[in-house]
Amino acid sequence: MKNLKLDAIRAAYERGENITELLREEGADSNSIEAIEIAYDLQSGTYINGLLKDKRNFEERAAEIGEILALHVSYLDTFLDCGAGELTTLSGISHYLPMNTKMLAFDLSISRLNTGLRFASRAMRYDLFGGLEAFSASMDHIPLNDNSIDVIFTNHSLEPNYGRELHILKELLRVSRKKLLLFEPSFEDNSEEGQSRMKKLGYVRNLPKWIREAGGVIVDKFPLRCVSNRLNPTYCYVVEKEDRGLSFKLSEICFRCPISHAELKDRGSYLWSRDGALAYPKINNISLLRSKDAILMFHE
Ligand SMILES: C[S@@+](CC[C@H](N)C(=O)[O-])C[C@H]1O[C@@H](n2cnc3c(N)ncnc32)[C@H](O)[C@@H]1O
Repeated sequence: MKNLKLDAIRAAYERGENITELLREEGADSNSIEAIEIAYDLQSGTYINGLLKDKRNFEERAAEIGEILALHVSYLDTFLDCGAGELTTLSGISHYLPMNTKMLAFDLSISRLNTGLRFASRAMRYDLFGGLEAFSASMDHIPLNDNSIDVIFTNHSLEPNYGRELHILKELLRVSRKKLLLFEPSFEDNSEEGQSRMKKLGYVRNLPKWIREAGGVIVDKFPLRCVSNRLNPTYCYVVEKEDRGLSFKLSEICFRCPISHAELKDRGSYLWSRDGALAYPKINNISLLRSKDAILMFHE
């Protein structure tokens, strides 16, 4: 990633420049995690503002996705939204999920989670908001145990991760117990114009191939009716794990260190693992669980 000062990046954003392109090294065709974080953190609040301007479109899309999810999420399931952004989609679809769904959500961007939690306190189904666990993490190092989440959901969050598809899909399948429900753009089904836009923006390609290589089975794939950008059509991929051997038992959800993988104990203002000798702080009660957030701490 190019090394630019944050005030210069903010000024470029205010001039309307594309930030992931601005931060990309000469000739690179993928976005670094840092570039994705900066680009999305800067635009915090824009999804909520957009939604408030066009509630009908938001509600139609939430209904379409929510009705699909309702077919796959069962009573008492755990449900994780990866790359949840401002929690707008999660708030919308919460109204379609069964009672007692335990919801978790994470994003790279802490600003988006801050804004999103304020929004969700009004827009999310009240009973589900009460149990929501929101944290900052990266999809390529999810700080959760194997087989600990029943249903994993993404909506356009794999999107900017071209080049990391296999690694991320392996992580999603590692953590999932039953299914992945991925709502992502399909490069292969896109128009020529859409494909060159996806290439220019460093968007994912060949998802079916990477899903299979990661150990997943695509049991369904279809386009969504509600499309906000015809150059970026959303497809739903319903994915099951090839190996579902030991998956069906209720396990406790606990956070684990993204570096040592040791179990983290929640100490109120931080999480810590004695074995891993690392602590992870919280901001506004949101745990920061990316490897870059780790603080060396052998003793409490
Ligand atoms: C297009 S937005 C979609 C947000 C949300 N899913 C929604 O439906 O509104 C993409 C989001 O994915 C997040 N994201 C992208 N790559 C990520 C990664 N590797 N790990 C965690 N979050 C990621 C970004 O920070 C951003 O908030």
